[in-house]
Amino acid sequence: MTVHEVEPFNAEPPRAALAGNMLTPVEAFYSRNHAPVPALDPATWTLAVDGLVVRPTTWTLASLRERFAAHSETATLQCAGNRRAGLVDIRDIPGEAPWGPTATATARWTGVRLGDVLEDAGVDPDATDVAFLGADVSEVARPPQEFGGSVPLRKARMPEVLLAWEMNGEPLAPVHGAPVRVVVPGYIGARSVKWVQRVTVADRPSDNFFQASTYRLLPPDVDPASAGPGDGVALGLVAVNADFLAPDDGAELPAGPTPVTGYAFAGGDRTVVRVDVSSDGGATWAQADLGEQASPWAWRHWSTTVDVARGEQQILARAWDSSAALQPADPASVWNPKGYVNNSWARLRLVGR
Ligand code: MTE
Repeated sequence: MTVHEVEPFNAEPPRAALAGNMLTPVEAFYSRNHAPVPALDPATWTLAVDGLVVRPTTWTLASLRERFAAHSETATLQCAGNRRAGLVDIRDIPGEAPWGPTATATARWTGVRLGDVLEDAGVDPDATDVAFLGADVSEVARPPQEFGGSVPLRKARMPEVLLAWEMNGEPLAPVHGAPVRVVVPGYIGARSVKWVQRVTVADRPSDNFFQASTYRLLPPDVDPASAGPGDGVALGLVAVNADFLAPDDGAELPAGPTPVTGYAFAGGDRTVVRVDVSSDGGATWAQADLGEQASPWAWRHWSTTVDVARGEQQILARAWDSSAALQPADPASVWNPKGYVNNSWARLRLVGR
C-alpha cells in the first residue's frame, strides 16, 4: 500500500493488486478516513432512524438481521479524490493527499436494504433527503464533528442501497466501517458512510461539514479556505472514469506486443460501454476488450495489446458511458481547488528496450 497518511489512515494499493480481480481482496481495498478508526462493539452497536418518519426506531445488529431480509450487491466505491495526483501535476493542491488511480475498488456487500428500513419507519411525504452519521469524530471538520453526508430520498429507497455488515463474504473490517456501513452504489465514496450510527430523514441535504463544506466542486479561482457551506457544487454521481492497472506506470519492457489492462467505471445508473486506447497521442484509437459487467454498479476491467516501441512513450486510455459521455482529454480543464473528479484521459508511461 502507498500510505498517504498514517493517522487518519489513508492508503491505496499498487495498480497490480487490482489487476485481474473483479472483486478486490479486502487487504487491497483502499482506505479513506477523516478521523481515527472508532472501535465499535457489534454487540452494543445501535442505529437510530429518526427525522421525518412516523416511527423513529433504534435497531441493533441482531434486530436488523431478524426484521429484514439480507441482500447482496456487487458495487464499486470510488473516492472523489481518486487520481488527484494528475491534477496536482497541473497546479499544487495544498492539504489534500495526492491519490493515484487506485482510490477505487469493488466488493460484494451484504446487509439489509436501506429502503426496507425506511419503509418500516414510515417516511413523511415532505421528506426529500436521507442523512447518515458515522461514529468517527473528525478534527478536519469545522467545527470537529462526526463524518456524515446525505443522498436524495429517491436514491436511498433504491434496492441497491444497503446497510452492509459484510464485504466479500466476511464481516466488515474495522477500517471499512464495522459493524455496519452505508453502501450507496454509483455515488462518490463519501456518501457510503462507515460506522453508521444514525439515519435521519429530512427535507433538505445534510448540513454535515463533509456534505455542506467539502466534497464540493469549486471553481478554479476560489480559495477553499474562504469557501463556506453551500459554495460550489455538491458531488454525488461518479463521472465516467478509467485508468491503467498493468503494466505499472514507468515500466521498462521488451519492445513488441504487450498486454495492457485497466478499469473503467461510470456512476449513477450509467455503465461503461466502450474503452479506447491510443499509442500515438490520440491521433488514432483502438477499442479495448471489455470484461464482465458483474452488476450495474460495478466497474468493468478492460484489456488490449499495445505494440511497445523502443524508448519512452505514452499510452492513452479513455472510456465512454451509456449516456455517450466521454472522459475529457485534458486534466487542466478539470482542475479544481480541492482536486476532485480527475476523470481526464488516463496516461501511462512505458519504456521499450
Ligand atoms: N465514513 C466515515 N464515517 N468516515 C470517513 O472518513 N470516508 C468516506 C467514506 N465513508 C469516511 C466514511 C470516503 S471519502 C470514502 S472514499 C469511503 O468511505 C472509503 O471507504 P473505504 O475506506 O472502506 O475504502
